[in-house]
Amino acid sequence: MEFSIKSGSPEKQRSACVVVGVFESRKLTLPAELLDKAANGYISDIVRRGDMEGKAGSTLLLHNVPGTLCDRVLMVGLGKEKDFREKEFIGAIRTTVKTLNETGAFDASIFLTELAVKKRSIGWRVRQTAMIALEATYKFDQFKSKKDEVRRPLRKLTLGVERRNELAQSEEALSQGIAIAEGMALAKDLGNLPPNICHPSYLAERAQAMAEEFGLGCEILERDDMEKLGMHSLLSVARGAHQPPKLIVLNYKGSKASEKPLVLVGKGVTFDTGGISLKPGADMDQMKYDMCGAASVLGTMQAVARMQLPINLTVIVPATENMPGGNATRPGDIVASMSGQTIEILNTDAEGRLILCDALTYAERFEPDTVIDVATLTGACVVALGGIASGLFANKDGLARELLEAGDEAHDRAWHMPLWDDYQELLKSPFADMANIGGRWGGAVTAACFLSRFTKKFDWAHLDIAGTAWKSGAEKGATGRPVPLLTHYILQLAGKLN
Ligand code: BES
Ligand code: MN
Ligand code: ZN
Repeated sequence: MEFSIKSGSPEKQRSACVVVGVFESRKLTLPAELLDKAANGYISDIVRRGDMEGKAGSTLLLHNVPGTLCDRVLMVGLGKEKDFREKEFIGAIRTTVKTLNETGAFDASIFLTELAVKKRSIGWRVRQTAMIALEATYKFDQFKSKKDEVRRPLRKLTLGVERRNELAQSEEALSQGIAIAEGMALAKDLGNLPPNICHPSYLAERAQAMAEEFGLGCEILERDDMEKLGMHSLLSVARGAHQPPKLIVLNYKGSKASEKPLVLVGKGVTFDTGGISLKPGADMDQMKYDMCGAASVLGTMQAVARMQLPINLTVIVPATENMPGGNATRPGDIVASMSGQTIEILNTDAEGRLILCDALTYAERFEPDTVIDVATLTGACVVALGGIASGLFANKDGLARELLEAGDEAHDRAWHMPLWDDYQELLKSPFADMANIGGRWGGAVTAACFLSRFTKKFDWAHLDIAGTAWKSGAEKGATGRPVPLLTHYILQLAGKLN
């Protein structure tokens, strides 16, 4: 889809469709009023007759409105004006894009971006609109022999801004929104790909391709390299798999070499059977999404590179399958991690932390300013927060606050969970420095506590996205989260969030 920004009057737009809002109790927004004036009361007549009452989610399509230059006018209900906030704005844009796609209009000028949203700038409104519009057109049909074709899909969207002095800010926000949406689409594609295709070597190839395209540094560590580094915890997960494990490293330099990088680490378990602690059969197919942490950090890297942000960013993806087999790790096995700490593996299904701990230790060599890991780590986090918020843990409150704010701004929210020492007790092992599970209760917290033992040397946060990275049911598929949260955090760091 093509986008542009324009400040101008709705009645003067030559597009196939002009979109304006109406509040409940039949109150026209300013752009709707302008159209109405040009049309000699045509719009307000319709509203007065009760054909468009302004209820949230309602729409009315008009053809050949007098006094205008466009083919159609789409009126979108916005609900009560006093309740019109972020959520309502997002809902109105979603409705608009969906309706436009069903209409057959090739291009549209939408004036909803002019509406004031409490605490949100014009930059926010434009960024969100681009993200929502592109999200609505995302398809994953490469394995369908017969594709569902949208008859005449929307190709071009012009976003109206009220004042000319908002143009520069809006243009910048627009390109950010597009870059973020494309990062999300990459994350979704990787998540949706079947596990027979999207295995560790495939992820490594995609990372290499991205490095070529954007001029990033790229290094792929093989099993031998990991052995030399002493990554026996990561390697213990890969033992049952026939697909070789990979440790993928991407480097983006947007700032001085002397500036310490932000490091993102993403869990890349391309299929999680549970290993010898085998998972039950029902819904096991969903464990192809167990690389969504990896997908989201790769998507974020792509967005950052596309926006050419003035920061240094490193992405690390430990990638492996978790399979059972004659050579697989047994419950009871003890391994030494790269950090030197030993781990008694009581449950081979708690594999995410086993690969992440070595990747986190590896992150030390980049002398990071901050490290954030992203992982579909625990079913317990899904129980705690469902699919609305990601679980956020951090060893520094300031970092937690910044990430919460970024999630809020991006509408990709997280919730702060505790990392108190009291929980560390649960990881005690009689035989090794720690066990890899903490028992039945507080599973999301004990998993984070496990990771915290490998992140003492830097500021660190952990996002448990087991509930937010994909949806099951009718809309089954990867969501692209938390690419919006991460990219907004980085935009803020780079001083580019307008
Ligand atoms: N990948 C799973 C976590 C998961 C579960 C993600 C459900 C999405 C939906 C992870 O590797 C896992 O199996 N965790 C175990 C840990 C347990 C054995 C301590 C879990 O959550 O059951
Ligand atoms: Mn598992
Ligand atoms: Zn897993």
